[in-house]
Amino acid sequence: MNNPFIVTGKIPPEYFCDRKEESRRIIDGVAGGDNICLLSPRRLGKSKLVRYCYDIPEISQKYYTFYIDILHTKSLQEFTFCFGQAVFTQLRSQSRKMLDAFVRGLKSINGKFGFDPVTSMPVFTLELGEIDKPEYTLTEIFASLENADRPCIVTFDEFQQVGKYPEKNIEALLRSHIQHLSNVRFIFSGSEPHIVSQMFLSSSRPFYNSTSILELRPIKASVYVPFVTGHFAEAGKKIRPEDVRRVYDLFEGNTYCIQKVFHEAFDAVPGGSECTLDILRQTVDSILEEAGTGYRLMLSGIPTRQKELLYAIASEVEAEKITGVDFIRKYALVSSSAVQTAAAKLRKMELITFNDGKYFIPDIMFRIYLQRLVNPSKVFFADRQ
Ligand SMILES: Nc1ncnc2c1ncn2[C@@H]1O[C@H](COP(=O)(O)OP(=O)(O)OP(=O)(O)O)[C@@H](O)[C@H]1O
Ligand SMILES: [Mg+2]
Repeated sequence: MNNPFIVTGKIPPEYFCDRKEESRRIIDGVAGGDNICLLSPRRLGKSKLVRYCYDIPEISQKYYTFYIDILHTKSLQEFTFCFGQAVFTQLRSQSRKMLDAFVRGLKSINGKFGFDPVTSMPVFTLELGEIDKPEYTLTEIFASLENADRPCIVTFDEFQQVGKYPEKNIEALLRSHIQHLSNVRFIFSGSEPHIVSQMFLSSSRPFYNSTSILELRPIKASVYVPFVTGHFAEAGKKIRPEDVRRVYDLFEGNTYCIQKVFHEAFDAVPGGSECTLDILRQTVDSILEEAGTGYRLMLSGIPTRQKELLYAIASEVEAEKITGVDFIRKYALVSSSAVQTAAAKLRKMELITFNDGKYFIPDIMFRIYLQRLVNPSKVFFADRQ
């Protein structure tokens, strides 16, 4: 029997929970000519939401859709390579005519495509190093989308990454292209909301006022709880709504974490039985243990003073005035300046985030793992059986 709680790969629509309003906003926005900036903390479901929208017939039958994850890219050259490759791969499966036009349009790298000897279809044999004039190539890619026989939607996922490229004019460069395209709509999706929102909301930046912002929040408990109980019931398994809610609250509705718990719990319970709070507790424990392998390795590379601060912030959940005497005394830290240095390092590693005067650990699983590490006797859902 299929597990209805999907944590890896594609989510079939029947197992996709909610996001009705958000997908409507994206579809209507794109149809109305908007570019959209999709923001949320990590693992709330941005990427899956875009994929879900792409598969809705209103979109899939009308548009060419392209999805480019740029998390691993480090320069404009890599960005252009990834973009070109994504467009190529997508067109190859959608339209031979467009594919040929696309390959012909890429004059700057034209000679570098191979051809399949049997089908005579172009093959993407390009090497990264062969994109020696990324700005030209980028212009050519945009031009071929502009001339496509259908409107196009391009998603750049993990868009905050462009802020880390050595080239400093990327935002302005992209903006200047995007402004002139009438056949292409863009979705910029990012998981470091403060960075991405600065990019789109700060009046001094090129993307200012050019996109509508959609901030993704956790799926509402009032929708998620019946989603879980319903799928358990369909499989002849029982689970109490209030227990589902306990898990939801522990992970503050983080989509990945809650889906992971119910995925494992669903497998642990045979048909006809009940998924008790005790089973959920064991599931959470084993998930933390599994995640712990990676976390331990990472912690082993962090100097003591930074680790102490990390533990302190995890314990506080949201830590204010961390260089103040009260905080330093409470967690037996060394000094205000030592805390400041440690905080800067931890922020650089993106292990902590600073927002609204507060420090917190953005990876909620990691935060809970650290809380358990500091207090090994911590039992989840202990106040009820
Ligand atoms: N609407 C949904 N219904 C069911 N499961 C979902 C839904 N949205 C997301 N998920 C699950 O939550 C997890 C995280 O989703 P996704 O990768 O889309 O998040 P993200 O915001 O793009 O994360 P990141 O910031 O790490 O890129 C996935 O494992 C996915 O299976
Ligand atoms: Mg994502």
